[in-house]
Formats: sequence, C-alpha cells, structure tokens
Amino acid sequence: MQNQPYYRPLRESDFYADKRSERPLIQGTVARGHLNADTYFYTGKIGSNDGDYMPFPLTPEVMARGQQRFNIYCAPCHSELGDGNGMIVQRGYKRPPSYHIDRLRRAPLGYFFDVMTNGFGAMPDYAEQVTPADRWAIAAYIRALQLSQHASASGVPAGQQIASTPPPGVIVTPPYDTQGATTAASTPHSDKAAAATGGEKKQ
Ligand code: HEC
Repeated sequence: MQNQPYYRPLRESDFYADKRSERPLIQGTVARGHLNADTYFYTGKIGSNDGDYMPFPLTPEVMARGQQRFNIYCAPCHSELGDGNGMIVQRGYKRPPSYHIDRLRRAPLGYFFDVMTNGFGAMPDYAEQVTPADRWAIAAYIRALQLSQHASASGVPAGQQIASTPPPGVIVTPPYDTQGATTAASTPHSDKAAAATGGEKKQ
C-alpha cells in the first residue's frame, strides 16, 4: 500500500500503445452537472433555426439584469442605445451595425443568443464572460432597446397619452410670458442688458 506504482500527471507510459498515462475520455462522457440537456437554453436553436422566445419567464428583474450586463459587455462597442457608436468604435474598432436596422429588428431572440455564444465576424464571442441565462437576459434587453426606438402611440396603454391641447371649452392662460419685451424690461435680465453686451436676445 505504501509503495504503490503511480504516474505523476501527464507522465509518459509504456503500458498504453499511445504512450499516454492520462487516458482520453470515453466518447460521450458528460461531466457532472454539464449534461446541458435543455438544448434551446444552451443554443437558442430549434433544430438549425433560431428560436424567438425566452426559455424562462421574462420578469422585471431579468430585464434589469439584461440592461446591466449589456451596459458592461456590449455597450463599449454597440453603445448604450445599440446604435453601434460605442466608445471603442469611436477609438477605431470596426463599427457594428445598429440594432435598429430592419434586418436586426426582425432577427429572432435566439439569433442574439447565438451571436453572443459564437461571435460574429469581427466580434469575439462572449460565452466565457456571460452565462447562458445572462445571454438570454441581454437578448431580451436588446429587443426592448429596439422597441424603444420604434415606439408608436398605439403601443402606449390607454389612459397614458399626454394631451397637448386643452379639452374644448377650457381656456388656459399660459404660465409663461407671451408678451415678450413688456415684462422683460422690468426684469434684471432685460433685452437692454443683452443689447448692451451685444449678446443675443434671451429666449
Ligand atoms: C469589442 C467590440 C464589441 C463588443 C464588446 C460586442 N460587439 Fe457585437 N459586434 C461588434 C462588431 C465589430 C460587429 C460586426 C461584426 C462584423 O460584421 O464583422 C458586431 C455585431 C453584432 C451583432 C450583429 C450581427 C449581425 O447579424 O450583423 C449583434 C447582434 C451583436 N454584435 C451583439 C452583441 C452583444 C449582445 C454583445 C454583448 C454581449 C456584443 N455584441 C459585444 C463588436 C462588438
């Protein structure tokens, strides 16, 4: 027991034909906790097509997490707005397309997951830095960014429209001065003062 033969890690061996004491894994071996049986969650694909739904419920917490991760990992190039004008791009890195172009607005959620997982062209992948759950959260946040730039009044829930004209029959006295110079002359910052310094008329 005390003096058993053993191999130091990665030592050569004469016992095996390939001379390796470290034996290769048997094909199909799955490390404990890495079965990744939920294919959609780990690839964003259904068969070979990108899926267009979240693999878990989208809550405000998930959206907040997506925003935070996006601003850390993606905004340096894509900008916080997603228009592709991030600081690294302003310093000379290849400019990514804006998320607000039609092609990317139509791209399914799984496509964004896939770009983060495998990279795209000049863009490196973020599989090491961003967990699968966070990649989904970011994908959802990108969709929210896209919607924010193409919002229409019909997307606003009823009762939240901001009226810009008073209802009929209501006479509104504007709180701002529509008389111009008459009252301006009595205030310290008058037109006279502006004229004296050759400055522009105050708006
Ligand atoms: C270091 C800069 C950089 C960072 C950081 C970065 N990207 Fe990109 N991204 C690019 C560039 C450059 C392209 C364009 C690549 C090309 O066309 O060769 C691109 C393209 C894309 C595209 C569009 C692919 C297409 O079909 O045109 C998506 C979507 C995308 N990135 C998502 C992300 C997400 C999500 C993150 C954060 C996890 C991220 N990127 C982080 C540089 C970056």
